[in-house]
Amino acid sequence: MTIAHGIRTLGVLGAGQMGLGIAYVSALHARVAVRLYDRAPAQIESGLKLMDKLLDKDVAKGKVGAADAKDARDRVQVVSQDEGLKGLRDVDMVVEAASENLQLKQQLFRSLSQELPPTTILASNTSSISLTKIAAATIPEGQSAASEEARRSAGRVVGLHFFNPVPVMKLVELISALQTSQETLDRARAFAVACGKEVTVSKDVPGFVSNALLMPFINEAILCLEKGTATRDDIDKTLKLGMNHPMGPLQLADFIGLDTCLAIQQTLYTGTSDSKYRPSILLERMVDAGWLGKKSGKGFYDYLSQ
Ligand code: 3HC
Repeated sequence: MTIAHGIRTLGVLGAGQMGLGIAYVSALHARVAVRLYDRAPAQIESGLKLMDKLLDKDVAKGKVGAADAKDARDRVQVVSQDEGLKGLRDVDMVVEAASENLQLKQQLFRSLSQELPPTTILASNTSSISLTKIAAATIPEGQSAASEEARRSAGRVVGLHFFNPVPVMKLVELISALQTSQETLDRARAFAVACGKEVTVSKDVPGFVSNALLMPFINEAILCLEKGTATRDDIDKTLKLGMNHPMGPLQLADFIGLDTCLAIQQTLYTGTSDSKYRPSILLERMVDAGWLGKKSGKGFYDYLSQ
């Protein structure tokens, strides 16, 4: 039996590379109306420019019809700074795609649970943070976690982990918090499928399946560079040509963002106390220097000269 996701309008919180990609596949493939909000207006502006560029490219390549592209673009509306989270009041689901920071996400989910009706699904695109901790933040103050109201509030929180670049990568990882209701899980899965994605399921452990595997691999590559085992180019070439990876691990780290890689590795390390997840000092220093990868123009590679 096909389960209906029942989403007519989606709120997307954060217009960075992930949020924008989620807005794109939701409007184009799931054909839902999208309300896009970011507290930085410049981010929305650059995100929408990228969306126009992607749609134009897909039309030029014959992958999307011109009318479908126009419809998709028209489905995306920007929430004004004055409206803020209130502008998401009548959406059926929100996907949060803010920075990878537990306190920030807890504060956002607390505010969302206060502003939005109790039936709105609250999904996070977190790459590593506990959904159970995020869900607990939605419980109204003074309520017991076992109360009906608390269960309803936390039961609509779920993890929907998209991959970068969202329009291209075929996977969404679905993560259930301890409190997530079956209905929330089923609808979130159906929505990811409507966006054209395949779904895998992971328990709510630090990094889930994807980043518990990917981040030690990336960190090991950075340690190789730090120790002088090989040059940057030879490390990446080994994985690209020897294992057919589309990008070497250092290029991939730059692509994801070194601050994001570090934040995920810190969540893995503190969440498990396992030394195999300890971030390399070189990664920490690069983030200290503001060398965050492709988005800042410099990481393991230099992007300004390209
Ligand atoms: N947004 C949208 N589309 C993009 C894009 C972007 N940022 N970058 C590339 N694309 C599209 C191109 O437009 C092109 O589309 P087309 O087939 O319609 O022309 C297609 O991807 C291929 O692009 P290119 O020919 O320019 O380049 P490549 O063939 O080198 O592919 C890549 C680029 C798809 C990014 C490829 O290098 C790749 O798959 N890299 C690995 C990406 C990856 O591992 N992502 C997961 C990161 S981990 C993550 O996101 C989880 C998080 O929690 C950390």
